[in-house]
Amino acid sequence: MPLQFTPVTENFVAHVTGIDLDDPVRASDREAIVEACDRYGVLVFPHQHLSKEALVRFGASFGEVDTTLQKKLLNHIQNRLGTDEVTDISNVDAQGNVAAADHWQTITTIGNRFWHSDGSYKDLPIRYSILNAVTAVGYGGETQYADLRAAYDSLDAVTQELIADKIGIFWSHNTRDWLHIPDSEAERGAFPKVRWPLVRTHPGSGRKVLWCDSKCWGIEGLSPPEARALVHELIEHIGQRERVYSHKWRPGDLVMADNRAVVHRGRRFIHAERREMRRVETNDDVHSLGYA
Ligand code: OGA
Ligand code: MN
Repeated sequence: MPLQFTPVTENFVAHVTGIDLDDPVRASDREAIVEACDRYGVLVFPHQHLSKEALVRFGASFGEVDTTLQKKLLNHIQNRLGTDEVTDISNVDAQGNVAAADHWQTITTIGNRFWHSDGSYKDLPIRYSILNAVTAVGYGGETQYADLRAAYDSLDAVTQELIADKIGIFWSHNTRDWLHIPDSEAERGAFPKVRWPLVRTHPGSGRKVLWCDSKCWGIEGLSPPEARALVHELIEHIGQRERVYSHKWRPGDLVMADNRAVVHRGRRFIHAERREMRRVETNDDVHSLGYA
């Protein structure tokens, strides 16, 4: 069966069949996947039960695989997966059991429940995030994706004008502060705040995107309260139902998302259920406007 893309909506999310990601990706398929990512932002590949090696190889065919975050996390946790190219997105402890509610692994993934683009707080952020489900939970646990291009297009003209030249300040610990996670000063300073335009253009599609997520800590030129209120308003706009795709996981699902065009968040689930995913990410090649 040839590679086939079945859109969920015209320009957002497609299901991809006719490819076995256990095998190296052919050059022509790679090009088609990149084009589809440019158009849809999110690609869902069902029935891909991949080894860690196959998952990394798939990611590496789209760019340099990021290891920096995982290296940082490894200072804290078990290296359960034994590699820094694959991040352990799970509620599982080093012994392979479902972790306690107050376990570091459990707590740290709670940050994923807020709308974000992976690595938006870094000078060199993430282009593609690839999640592969090993197990799936019964209740909740969906990953939701929201379309930042449609979010920009649907802003009213006054708001488009207001944010046209605004620069956001993004910080890795913004959400961890909301969550009252008591990190050390060294941890809080590990990723210095970076500056990004709130409106960016996606290089693959030429479409404008509303570049705002829960890591946005402030906006230059606005008072802190006005900035924070506007950030909340923009995130609320981004998360409107008509621009959101909710992915209910089945084991073996693989979802590839273009962080330059979409944000995502994980939904609440029951801690006692085992939720186990593996993630590979590739680095983008567009830098921020610099450190704040
Ligand atoms: C991530 C993430 C959400 C989820 O892995 O980057 O945000 O549903 N995950 O686990
Ligand atoms: Mn994420």
